[in-house]
Amino acid sequence: MSKIKIEGGHKLTGTVNISGAKNSAVALIPAAILCDEETSIINVPNISDVDSLEEILKYLKADVKREEDHVTINCQNMTNKCIPHELSSKLRASYYFMGALLGKFHEVDMHFPGGCSIGKRPIDLHLKGFRELGATVYEKDDHIIIKAKELTGNKIYLDIPSVGATINIMLAAVKAKGTTIIENAAQEPEIVNVAMYLNNMGAQITGAGSNLIKITGVSTLTKAIHEVIPDRIEAGTYLIIASLLGENLKINKVIPNHLESLVSKLKEAGVNMEIGNDYIRVNKVNEYKAINIKTLVYPGFPTDLQQPMIPFLTQCHGISKVEETIWENRFQNIMDTIKMGANIEVENNKVAYVKGKTPLKGENVSATDLRGGASMLICGLIAEGITVIDNINFILRGYDNIVNKLKEVGANIELID
Ligand code: UD1
Repeated sequence: MSKIKIEGGHKLTGTVNISGAKNSAVALIPAAILCDEETSIINVPNISDVDSLEEILKYLKADVKREEDHVTINCQNMTNKCIPHELSSKLRASYYFMGALLGKFHEVDMHFPGGCSIGKRPIDLHLKGFRELGATVYEKDDHIIIKAKELTGNKIYLDIPSVGATINIMLAAVKAKGTTIIENAAQEPEIVNVAMYLNNMGAQITGAGSNLIKITGVSTLTKAIHEVIPDRIEAGTYLIIASLLGENLKINKVIPNHLESLVSKLKEAGVNMEIGNDYIRVNKVNEYKAINIKTLVYPGFPTDLQQPMIPFLTQCHGISKVEETIWENRFQNIMDTIKMGANIEVENNKVAYVKGKTPLKGENVSATDLRGGASMLICGLIAEGITVIDNINFILRGYDNIVNKLKEVGANIELID
């Protein structure tokens, strides 16, 4: 398996172009199943999670063409059969095949989704939503069968504003009879991106981006071309890197509004940023002061940027407190960060205290999960000497072309065997 080797300490200059959002693309691609004609999605990131979804679609005999960042999907002749473990377990977002296939065929049979082990990751709210639309859910061995004679709109309250459950219920409800209301819906920009795609195809969804979404069922969805929004987590990762190593480093093709919570925290620490319509630039690195972070649902501080923030906090003066409230197991990167020289204490896997500023030194470390891997990569970029990261498949699941993007702005980074 490949590894990433980094010689740390190089300043970074130039422009990093941000790709389409992983968490939008992984929902938009299954959503294409609901279209009754050919449909196209553009600005799709080149990441292995997208490869895995393409594999599932092809297994179901959908017609998929992928050229650069453009994917064309035609599901008119697809077959609805059990999605096996080796395909469903490659990624968490395979759960969107539940909502999409249920919406189209009123029946789904698939093995459980996979993904990074960052916590329990239940899907009870997704299943509750399907049941409330009239479906029956059977769990047999390690697969799940969801069937409905007919799907009928209903009022569905989510105990937790889950991103996955909100999108999955939208997918199942879009062609149901009558009106569905999702209360306490998640409000992430990726949900708006999916709702707009479905609306472009003729769906009737209002309220996406607020905590109350209304879906009036329609019988057909027609041809549409839709663009994936910029990846706010990828952009945030590069903005953290820019804050640590940027010398006139521009993070380009972003929606700055989607990064509000990160930007305000970085400013509080002392980062100077120039914010344009579709870019954020860091001209030079400062001395920074400790800050506190608490992960929350959007528009709060994203859990997916909590791990990439840890190396930044090691370079701040004072004690930073980091509270993780979304996932139970999201400090797996800390052990290797300490190995590189950080001073961090973790309490009950919920709170981390990062004491800075500490220099980091290159080490052999491991990517424990996608964002934990990004965190180790940032550590490597700022450390003195050579860092080698293994298990990098986790990183490649979510970061498009990361090694080249960093090389182009001056990092000494390469893939090695
Ligand atoms: C999505 C993102 C992931 C991000 C997370 C939170 C995708 C593909 N992944 O994951 O990168 O970290 O949002 O922003 O978009 N929960 C339940 N029951 C459920 C569903 C969720 O209890 O049925 C809980 C989870 O355990 C977690 C919280 O709700 O504590 C949030 O989960 P959710 O928003 O569903 O995350 P995902 O959609 O899986």
